[in-house]
Amino acid sequence: MNQLLILDYGSQFTQLIARRIREERVYCEIHPPTVTVDWIREWAPRGIILSGGPASVYDADVPRIDPALLALGVPVLGICYGMQLIAQLRGGNVLAGRREYGRAEIVIERSDELFEGFHAGETIAVWASHGDHVDEVPPGFTRLATAPDNPVAAFRAQDAPIFGVQFHPEVAHTPRGDEILSNFAFRICGCEPDWTAGSFIEDALGRVRDQVGDRNVICGLSGGVDSSVAAALVHRAIGDQLTCIFVDTGLLRKAERENVERTFRRHLGARLVVVDAADRFLEKLAGVDDPEEKRRRIGDTFIRVFESTAREAGNDAAFLVQGTLYPDVIESMSVRGPSAVIKTHHNVGGLPEDMPFELIEPLRELFKDEVRHVGRELGLPEELVGRHPFPGPGLAIRVIGDVTPERLDVLRDADAIYLEEIQAAGLYDDIWQAFAVLLPVRSVGVMGDYRTYESVVALRAVTSRDGMTADWFPFPPDVLGRMAARIINEVKGVNRVCYDVSSKPPATIEWE
Ligand code: XMP
Repeated sequence: MNQLLILDYGSQFTQLIARRIREERVYCEIHPPTVTVDWIREWAPRGIILSGGPASVYDADVPRIDPALLALGVPVLGICYGMQLIAQLRGGNVLAGRREYGRAEIVIERSDELFEGFHAGETIAVWASHGDHVDEVPPGFTRLATAPDNPVAAFRAQDAPIFGVQFHPEVAHTPRGDEILSNFAFRICGCEPDWTAGSFIEDALGRVRDQVGDRNVICGLSGGVDSSVAAALVHRAIGDQLTCIFVDTGLLRKAERENVERTFRRHLGARLVVVDAADRFLEKLAGVDDPEEKRRRIGDTFIRVFESTAREAGNDAAFLVQGTLYPDVIESMSVRGPSAVIKTHHNVGGLPEDMPFELIEPLRELFKDEVRHVGRELGLPEELVGRHPFPGPGLAIRVIGDVTPERLDVLRDADAIYLEEIQAAGLYDDIWQAFAVLLPVRSVGVMGDYRTYESVVALRAVTSRDGMTADWFPFPPDVLGRMAARIINEVKGVNRVCYDVSSKPPATIEWE
């Protein structure tokens, strides 16, 4: 099949490999290195990439490769730890302990196949991040690139399409890394660049129809990009078998319910039921200040609301559509184990075990920007497709600490002014996500001649490509000043505004 398999040995860059390959319009998936060779044979990839990883080939209990994988006759590219595994398996020398992190230079020695388009003797900049390195090529291998501190920067087997690079071609700091990955995908593996939004939609329609048959489906609509695109796709596949449910959780932004209803009715054409469940959610959240407990209770309440709504509507729905995306899927199956799960995104983690619906997740192979392409291809308007992401638990994780109707109102007002000013400054599309957060502290201020002792609002705006890493957005000072002044003057109960200048990592985008 025209697809590549990426085996994830735990590198922080594994997702980037998938992104780069998808940008070449080749379909690929990330799987753990524990998949069997029989499974791989059946999945029939045109090539396999072994990612980097934090382990050393000399450690016990580390993920390895089945020797049979190298005998499949399918091209293999090992990156960093992946290369070291190949080297060790084939009798090369892997030297432990000389670390190399950051920018480095290598000299290309052979400019065929993997380095097609480069020339022999050329020096290129690469990004290195390794503790061990391959010091000597295994018997039957040829060196393709070298560096003073890194004698075997790249190699290949003489009798099989097995390649290794010690550096990371997938990161932006390896400026010509995309050419190397493209050479692997097209020249070595013979892939075709056929992965497009249109081809994805074609396949997805068939898959949804096969899964659903003539049964009924409900879709929880959040008003965000993911659930809207998922709903539009499933609606195109099965028409009236789909009922969309928009739950007013009482945790929505100002005027969100009206906006979603209007946009939905105008552009999606599917049946829509709007449920007012604010009391149920707020009751469940009363007195809860732990972020994960908030998520768990919200996930559970969503399902109970879907259940009762479907029952009341006389709808015997067997399926629930979720807008789960690929980063959530990868996080939940990480080889790094449960300790690497930072937040339980309710799309994947917060659902109750006794859920009465089978899930349909038509976007689970896509990254956010790909979802936006699919949305446009399905004819959804830019105002919907270009919206900032909004988390399922809504304002509950932006009112830090106890969630009460009064505190939600304060946050909603501050947040609305903030977004209004961002729109007015023409900056909305430059920002990945922007929102206000209500802090659980009070601060002293002076208004008129009176002392005040009121709430603090933090503003957050970040740039990002996929939400996995993010940087704070540098607002012009006059815009920031105007936002703060308006919030303090217009929102009763707030006397101080702060701007969050943390990047992710080490912070996360949301505060909870
Ligand atoms: P973090 O805070 O993990 O957020 O850096 C990354 C992206 O995920 C969104 N997010 C969530 N989405 N349920 C969701 O559906 C959640 O519980 C949740 N927590 C965070 C966040 O808004 C950002 O876009």
